[in-house]
Formats: sequence, structure tokens, C-alpha cells
Amino acid sequence: MKVLVINGPNLNLLGIREPELYGKKDYAALCAAVEEHARQLGITVDIFQSNCEGEIVTRIQQALGNEDAVVINAAAYTHTSIAILDALKAIALPAVEVHLTEPMQREEFRHVSYVGMACETRIAGFGFESYLKALDYLHKKYSK
Ligand code: DQA
Repeated sequence: MKVLVINGPNLNLLGIREPELYGKKDYAALCAAVEEHARQLGITVDIFQSNCEGEIVTRIQQALGNEDAVVINAAAYTHTSIAILDALKAIALPAVEVHLTEPMQREEFRHVSYVGMACETRIAGFGFESYLKALDYLHKKYSK
């Protein structure tokens, strides 16, 4: 099973960015945790990060025929991007929305998730564990 893991804007600044919310571990540590968990499950992951909405749309389109599922933390684009929603709907692969924090317990503008409208489930508020739980979910449901 091949899974595309997408990280949106400012997640490259993990460890520096609001550590009281997002933790002190950096982006490389997140990637290492995801890669190690995927290895244990026998899943191949490609982890993609971009601060640009269009680059995220393009990478989602490239998953068609190349990957079996998507894990996406679109970060702030979660709450604004109809383009990312449409890209996920276009490729129609199983997708899981993840967040480090729980946006529903934060400012009201974070309570809307366009990205979530194209995802079959949502895992939020567990820090790096949110991504690992998403891989578990996909592995259990789709791995043959
Ligand atoms: C986030 C939550 C978003 O509201 C925020 O814009 C982010 C990170 C999270 O992982 O908790 O950048 O997606």
C-alpha cells in the first residue's frame, strides 16, 4: 500500500512555531515518526510539504495512479481551500484529515474544514500520533 502524506503551510516550522501548541519537535522528527510507523505497517509513504496551495493541488493530482490513499494536514488551507477539496474529490482516493491540535477547540474560524468534506475520517488533537493513527486506519481498512 502506498500513501501520500501531505503537509500544508508552516508545518515546516514545527519546533519553532508556537511550541506551546505544536510541540518542540521539528518537521524532520515528524517525518521520521511517520516513516518509522509506515515501515512497521508495511506501508510505503511519500511525505510532501508545501506552503503553496497550487503545489498541494498539483501533488494531490499526481497521486492518481501512483498512490492508494492520502493523509492530509492542510494546515490553514484546511479552513479556506476549495481547490484542495476539489483536488481530493477529483482523484477520489481514500483520504484522512489529520491535525496536530484540535481545531474545533480553537478559534471559530478553524471550525470549518473544506478539506474534511473530501475525507472519510478526521483525526485531530494527538500531536504526531494523529498521523500514526491515520496510517493505522488506512492499513486496517485497505491493506490486503
Ligand atoms: C493545524 C491546525 C490549523 O488550524 C492550523 O492552521 C495549522 C495546523 C494542526 O495541525 O493542528 O497550521 O492543521
